[in-house]
Amino acid sequence: MERREALKNIFSLSIAAAVAPLPSFANLSLVEGGVLKQNAQLFQKALLTNPNLQGFVGLKHNISEQVLKVEGAIPADFKGSFYRNGPAIHQRQGQRYTHLFEGDGMVQQFSFTEQGVTHRAKFINTAKFEKEQQAGKFLFSGPDSKLKNSRSVTGPDSINTANTNVLPVNGELWALWEAGSATAIDPKTLNTKGVIDLGKNTHYGSSLKGLAFSAHPKVDPDGTIWNFGSTVTGDIVLYHLNKLGATQKVNILKTNYRGGMLHDFLVTHKHLLIILPSIIKDKTKDTFFGAISFDEQVPLRVLVVDKATLTLKREYNLDPGFAFHFGNAWEDQQGNIRFDASLYPNLDNLHYMSEVMKGKVSHPEQAKTTFFTLYKNGRTTKETIPGVSEFPRIYNHLTGLKNNTLVTLSSVESDVWSDAVRVINTHTGKQDRFTYGKEYLVEEHVVVDSSQKEGSGYLVGTALHVPSKRTCVNIFKANRVSDGPVCRAWLPDAIPLGFHGNFMPT
Ligand SMILES: [Fe+2]
Repeated sequence: MERREALKNIFSLSIAAAVAPLPSFANLSLVEGGVLKQNAQLFQKALLTNPNLQGFVGLKHNISEQVLKVEGAIPADFKGSFYRNGPAIHQRQGQRYTHLFEGDGMVQQFSFTEQGVTHRAKFINTAKFEKEQQAGKFLFSGPDSKLKNSRSVTGPDSINTANTNVLPVNGELWALWEAGSATAIDPKTLNTKGVIDLGKNTHYGSSLKGLAFSAHPKVDPDGTIWNFGSTVTGDIVLYHLNKLGATQKVNILKTNYRGGMLHDFLVTHKHLLIILPSIIKDKTKDTFFGAISFDEQVPLRVLVVDKATLTLKREYNLDPGFAFHFGNAWEDQQGNIRFDASLYPNLDNLHYMSEVMKGKVSHPEQAKTTFFTLYKNGRTTKETIPGVSEFPRIYNHLTGLKNNTLVTLSSVESDVWSDAVRVINTHTGKQDRFTYGKEYLVEEHVVVDSSQKEGSGYLVGTALHVPSKRTCVNIFKANRVSDGPVCRAWLPDAIPLGFHGNFMPT
């Protein structure tokens, strides 16, 4: 089959899955007005007694530029904008989504200059957001939340919320989801420019429109961009873009993957690592995230793909496990590969993010940083280090190369959300940690370093202070994290908890 024809077929199947009719029992609950209304009521009640839930309330409006109150001093060489993305509308007209991943994306911008720190935020004007904003209510069923009279979904981008990550590409920001197109944003105005058509001006033509482009692209030190997209067929689409964001090569990897969801991947200087977790779809359930189940009979599969041809070179089966996120991978001259994962023993954390939408806080088992070595002869080893780990980041210039430093969030005092940030030496295991404490809900911290020298530069990240209902942005010296932030700037209010972001220097 021609590649272009195959891509078209994958796209058709994605549409078919998105618009498939619901089983009859689901329709019954919808007629009664259902789950979304009940979710809103349960959350509102729980919010009265659990202030930690304020991170999941959401916003109704954009936030105009505001000057933040600064504690400490902004380092002289820390200039630029820190952009973050996350779901910020969870509820409309008394109906509340049933999974945290469904809300409409909003870009937060924190700008650092000699004059101080400013903040503003704008919803991403996706096609879905614009229509629902105008109507003042939800119009489209999401992956888990089913509406009785959902408007027709003609492709993944009909319900694209662009809510997961934001990546600087050739003077634009790309707001990323994982089941459809990237959305271009103007980094100065935060205005939405439109969805990216990766086939435009290439021989792929319109065949790439709406194809899944994950929220975790990897950028080589020379700016080359790699990404994947997970499809309902179980095949994985692989992308090679140049540093300007122009498509160079696309290929389909036949995997027979039955998990449905695939969130992140890795690159070395020669290979892509597609890491398929031990999950399957429970066909008796009618919601996307709700149907995903951990299967301890299914190995964690690592597919090693050649960057030059985007074809499979070898495969490893590891002990069962699940990871949303990976930090980095690199390989030695013999072709032995080392990588790290924030590894969970099961899938409870994914379902926790459904429970929290109705105000229920449980305590699922958390992820731990695990280092894997994949030897060329097929042997594998793994080593898990102590402490909770999520949202791993590295120095960007070492993507795919040997790294000594891994930055992760952790949970020390809190059993609700992350409450600490730490820098791990990947070879000695030594950790340098700052614990915000259980009064804070801590979000991803990103390395900011212009010198391209591991250990230098800064970390920047946000945290919601629960008692005062305010969010702060914090700068740490990367080699002295346990000293605490050298600069902290306060918003007057709390903003919704988001997922990922990146720093764009000026
Ligand atoms: Fe992620």
